[in-house]
Amino acid sequence: EAVDVAINYAFDRLQNPFSPPTHWPPPRNRRFRRVMEGIDAMTYGIIAERRAAAAAGTVRGDGTPDLLDMLLEVRDADTGQGMSDREVRDEVITTFGAGHETTAITLTWAFYLLSRHREVLRRVQEEVDAVLGDAMPTMADLAAMPYALQVFEEALRLYPSAPIVPRLALRDTELGGYTVPAGSRLLVDLFTIHRHERHWEDPERFDPDRFSAEGKRGRHRFAHMPFGAGPHLCIGKHFALMEAHLLLAALVRRYEFRHVPAHRVVNQASITLRPRYGMEMTVHTRSRATGTG
Ligand code: HEM
Repeated sequence: EAVDVAINYAFDRLQNPFSPPTHWPPPRNRRFRRVMEGIDAMTYGIIAERRAAAAAGTVRGDGTPDLLDMLLEVRDADTGQGMSDREVRDEVITTFGAGHETTAITLTWAFYLLSRHREVLRRVQEEVDAVLGDAMPTMADLAAMPYALQVFEEALRLYPSAPIVPRLALRDTELGGYTVPAGSRLLVDLFTIHRHERHWEDPERFDPDRFSAEGKRGRHRFAHMPFGAGPHLCIGKHFALMEAHLLLAALVRRYEFRHVPAHRVVNQASITLRPRYGMEMTVHTRSRATGTG
């Protein structure tokens, strides 16, 4: 609920230049402040616990540091200072906010698309079964399962989970014959670019072969940019692709997700591109002997 409220609030502010400041009293602001208090209490709680454990020399798990350990250990090269709780909290919320929701929703869309295109599903199942057998996928298996990654890339094309990339014009400029005055806020609409007929043949069709080596040849390099482009390119791009590739293969190996036909699927553009009414699916355990559920 907290992530829902925070995302919708942020999108509203992005779209509406006349939003009242966050500390003003309207109910929308109060609701946002309330969910942020919850998110902060949880985040600061984890940071405090971790600092206390580090001070006491407690070793967690097998002792391998995670991202939070690294953030807590980092020191400024000039001053030797570590990060304040507030700085660590900002990093944690950014990484979680930017990194969790995006990959999770794209997987939702990917499984929806697979359930609607059984011939594609069969191909991924065959690839995954041949490479993994009964084992869970590891990094070493990924190169042998290119089609599973193509499915994820095609899902990112049709349903880019971060559909809008904002930019602020720092100086007067001209773009496609339009004058853009300094200070203008521009929203780059990835959803439309990804379905533009100039760049894609039969753009509404789900076809992971668009991302085979052959399929990619000759395509404009910005026709597909679910991770943005330029100096602010998503820092989690490679991590997300690896994580999604592993998850997709692991899930396809064990389960088949079937969309409940009566359930209405409508996409809702916000900061992220979610299915407005969620995604109702039934989960079927696959038996490897028959390849079906
Ligand atoms: C499928 C998954 C993901 C998608 C579709 C996605 C998409 C994007 C997009 C479109 C941008 C804006 C780029 C621009 O302004 O040009 C962005 C930025 C960013 N992403 Fe991701 N992202 C994903 C996963 C992740 C993950 C896993 C992390 C972190 C672990 C992450 C962290 C960030 C950060 C920190 C930025 C801001 C970069 C900056 O402004 O310099 N993202 N992402």
